[in-house]
Amino acid sequence: MKNIYIAPSILSADFAKLGQEVADVERGGADWLHVDVMDGHFVPNLTFGPLVMGAIAPLTKLPLDVHLMIEKPEEYVPAFAQAGAHVITVHAEACVHLHRVIHLIKEHGVKAGVAINPATPVSAIREVIEDLDLVLVMTVNPGFGGQAFIPATLRKIRELSKWRTELGLDHLRIEVDGGIAASTAPLVVEAGADVLVAGNAVFGRPDRSAAIAEIKASI
Ligand code: DX5
Ligand code: ZN
Repeated sequence: MKNIYIAPSILSADFAKLGQEVADVERGGADWLHVDVMDGHFVPNLTFGPLVMGAIAPLTKLPLDVHLMIEKPEEYVPAFAQAGAHVITVHAEACVHLHRVIHLIKEHGVKAGVAINPATPVSAIREVIEDLDLVLVMTVNPGFGGQAFIPATLRKIRELSKWRTELGLDHLRIEVDGGIAASTAPLVVEAGADVLVAGNAVFGRPDRSAAIAEIKASI
């Protein structure tokens, strides 16, 4: 089985001490750091942009996993690449020219991901899957941390996992985001996910190391 990565989402961190929060999860065994960017249009919430991310980047060795929940993401790809992104994920629902955006990300030397909302079928990414480094299956509706996991998304993870095997896409990572905790992690891993985003389940606990260890032990 592929290594399973845990990617704490800084959306649930204490923004007043972001540097310390990042160091805390890095010490606690995080594999990636998930950066949720929201524009108040694609999703009904606002977070931060490349300036804040660029301030975090030099403080950590963790790969920065940038999740753009914004309209016209192509306009911000260069800025997030410059700010130190390891992977940039755009939403299929936000891109009229998805193929073009994926290749724009790659031209900037960054790994490319596409996210799909709970109501979006996996067929939305079928024609570009061979160009991708990562597919992000939203297991809640994007916009907020701390929501309940939607079990109907498991079927989509299974389908993607099947495609990955059939097409021999061994490098492709399947990421899940929303409502992931020790109770839901075994379900998504069994279905084929190998990058688990966790906001509330990690930053909502005083001992982040114990929180990450609990998720890892559950799978
Ligand atoms: C939701 C974000 C998630 C969020 C997950 O729109 O994309 O990354 O931080 O938070 P939890 O793990 O608390 O559901
Ligand atoms: Zn996210």
